[in-house]
Amino acid sequence: MKPTIIDCDPGIDDAIAILLAFASPELDVRAITTVAGNTTVERTTANAHRLLHLIGRTDVPVGRGASQPLVRAAGAPIDDIHGTDGLGDAGIPPAPEPETQRDAIQLIIETVESSPEPVTLIAVGPLTNIALLHAVRPDIVDRLERIVIMGGAAKGGNVAPTAEYNIWFDPEAAQRVFGLDVDIVMVGLDVTQKAITRPIHWAELEKGGLASQQILAMNAFYSAYHASRGGEELTMQHDALAVAAAIRPDLVTVVPARVNVECASPLTVGTTVVDVANPREGGRVRVALDVEVEEFNEFLVSRIARFLSE
Ligand code: BDR
Ligand code: CA
Repeated sequence: MKPTIIDCDPGIDDAIAILLAFASPELDVRAITTVAGNTTVERTTANAHRLLHLIGRTDVPVGRGASQPLVRAAGAPIDDIHGTDGLGDAGIPPAPEPETQRDAIQLIIETVESSPEPVTLIAVGPLTNIALLHAVRPDIVDRLERIVIMGGAAKGGNVAPTAEYNIWFDPEAAQRVFGLDVDIVMVGLDVTQKAITRPIHWAELEKGGLASQQILAMNAFYSAYHASRGGEELTMQHDALAVAAAIRPDLVTVVPARVNVECASPLTVGTTVVDVANPREGGRVRVALDVEVEEFNEFLVSRIARFLSE
């Protein structure tokens, strides 16, 4: 079992990613850390607790991280995509939060220091916490097995024509992280926008109990957003694909690259400039460019359905 930390901003697709991680015997999720992104850090933290409560894993610590990017103001919560509660207003019950909040950076440090094996960090929100971790304890970053990042794109964008949301939210943090001396796998829109999951894929969950129904309702909110933009009812499970790639690297095809982030131009801020012709020395940054879509869907949904019905 790989010791793992998930740094996230739940967020509907973050919630699905968290479920996949706990449903996977290959991963030993030791901590969840939160950051502002899809919604405020107060809400992403509350949502991490709600999810752990829902699946009976309140033994896993949650650390609250950055409430805003390194140098910019936080973007407004994207409630139209994730709901006013960040989890699709789907009736997932509130969870009691511990009296004293743990700090994300401190929790990552303690988790890495106490692990005999190197820890995998799966980062599926803006990269603020990871940049701050490096600023205070670069030795902890050195000890990581790798960082699997959901973010960026070699081509295209979602929040802007050439920018992906997580990178756009805190481009200065992302620029620092892509330059770190650690193995990085970037799972960006090049693959997550291909990994389309349709309502039919989730049919197995319909037979499940209350938790399955709440997860289905949460996901339905996410699909409805896509449909409201003139498309079909479908979801792009961006964050779950990063978790899947950490478990099953064969699901994605990666190439070594150099990644820099545009931090200046207002027109293209948050763009990941992916240079495959001049990769980083030692192949330390790899970018996923293709994905086995049907295998991913099968992997994702069957694991979550089995887990929630146990
Ligand atoms: C990423 O942005 C967020 O809205 C999602 O949770 C995902 O991490 C996709 O661009
Ligand atoms: Ca996310």
